[in-house]
Amino acid sequence: MQDVFVAHAAELAGEGERRIIVHGAREVGVLRAQGRLHAFSNHCPHQGGPVCEGMLIHKVEEVLAADHTYHGMRFDSTRLNLVCPWHGWEFDIATGRTAGDPRFALRRFEVIERDGDVFVRLPAAQ
Ligand code: FES
Repeated sequence: MQDVFVAHAAELAGEGERRIIVHGAREVGVLRAQGRLHAFSNHCPHQGGPVCEGMLIHKVEEVLAADHTYHGMRFDSTRLNLVCPWHGWEFDIATGRTAGDPRFALRRFEVIERDGDVFVRLPAAQ
C-alpha cells in the first residue's frame, strides 16, 4: 500500500469538491460529500464510465400510502448518490453500492488527512 497525494485539504473543504488523480493505470476520484471525504475508482462497473465526474444527487424514492396507492416521488435528504455520466447508474456515496442492484459497487479506497494534505491509500501500482 502507498499513500498518494491528492490535494491540499483546503482545496477539498467544500461540499462536492473533488479531484481525480491518475496513479499508474488507476484513476481515483476523491470527493467531499455529506461532510466527509470519499475515494472511489473512477471506473463504473457498468461499462467503465468516469463515474467520479458525475453529479451528486439525493436518492429519489417513491411515496406509497398505506393502501399502496402512489403519491409521487421525493428526495431522501439523508442519502446521496453519485450518478455515472454515461448511462446514469447511481451509487450510494456512503457504501459505493448501486441504488438499483447492490451486487454492483464502486471500489472504495481509504482517504487520509495528514498535516493539511489529503492522500488516498492505494495498493502498490501494478
Ligand atoms: S458506464 Fe456508468 S452507467 Fe454505464
